[in-house]
Amino acid sequence: MIPILELKTQYAEIREEVERAVCDVLARTHYILGPEVTAFEQEFARWNQIEHAIGCASGTDALVLALRACGVGPGDEVLAPSFTFMATAGAISSVGATPVFCEIDPGSFNLDPAQLEKKITPRTKAIVVVHLYGHPADMNPLLEVGRKHNLKVIEDCAQATGAEVHGKKVGTMGDVGCFSFFPSKNLGGAGDGGMVITRHADIDERVRCLRGHGSRRKYYHDELGTNSRLDEIQAAVLRVKLKHLDRWNEKRRAVAAAYTEKVSPFVTPPPVQPGCIHVYHQYTVRTSRREELMSWLNQNGVGAIVYYPCSLHLQQVYAGLNYKLGDLPITEKAQAEVLSLPMYPELTTAQIDQVVQAVERFHSQPVQAG
Ligand SMILES: Cc1ncc(COP(=O)(O)O)c(C=O)c1O
Repeated sequence: MIPILELKTQYAEIREEVERAVCDVLARTHYILGPEVTAFEQEFARWNQIEHAIGCASGTDALVLALRACGVGPGDEVLAPSFTFMATAGAISSVGATPVFCEIDPGSFNLDPAQLEKKITPRTKAIVVVHLYGHPADMNPLLEVGRKHNLKVIEDCAQATGAEVHGKKVGTMGDVGCFSFFPSKNLGGAGDGGMVITRHADIDERVRCLRGHGSRRKYYHDELGTNSRLDEIQAAVLRVKLKHLDRWNEKRRAVAAAYTEKVSPFVTPPPVQPGCIHVYHQYTVRTSRREELMSWLNQNGVGAIVYYPCSLHLQQVYAGLNYKLGDLPITEKAQAEVLSLPMYPELTTAQIDQVVQAVERFHSQPVQAG
């Protein structure tokens, strides 16, 4: 079986480094907001070429803290894609704002800047841009919409650590960038973790305050915050892994290139738009025979998965917003056609061939009537 994701091979490669780093933290007994978090915040900021980075407990919390630091709250509307993981919109709802679901560009699966403006109302406060599957969104026109309408731009980089567009890393172009270190991510910890990055000193200060119960001075609380901190142990693991990330992302691109060369006659491979560096958190193809192909692959030892089978505007949780099937046709077509193939840097040539051959064998069979 070739699973959709496998972490053991990577762990074996860096085991000694990781275990040494974790043991150092255990021995130091400074478990919360200590030297590892401070060093990782500095290293992550430098790696992204940005001034500020603030660790927090998860990618979801990074979005919540970023939205609050941007002044988004009850009564506000926030433009966001529907074709994303629930956390994107969940964060908007949890600060009391309303997600306004917008259409995507069918090539990149990311927000279509041309379709945003018609959704703007006097209540619109921000745009959450998602860099889905590791392909960066087309930031310049999105930022232009933000500037024109005085909206904050928050980048959801959970799936795209290291992706670039026109020479700039994701998360550095909007007002705030939000990252997830969930274990399956390109930079994944040994548990939950997240990061907010920004070039604005005031946003940095506010996020730091909010992540520690709204406190700027110990035991004095200026506003209602929360407890959302990155653990020292997670920071220690992530510091080790950050050193390898460029190489791992390069390997993901090599895996993707090998897939694309061989699967293109059968399915539509993920395009890379001009000026973009994709980091292939997922390698996601399109096919009109998605359900059949997925079950064939699963029966033939290939762990293909659909991210995401139900877009957010059609989820039960958002029934109260009164969207219906047909409201976002490009999103709905994507949700019916996408299929992600196994993707991780350590995939071998033999494994890639096995995946590709399974795709080929499926397409060499006669199509079933009905
Ligand atoms: C697009 C997107 N945004 C946000 C998140 C939330 O990250 P976390 O799981 O660390 O809370 C995820 C995680 O899967 C994600 O894929």
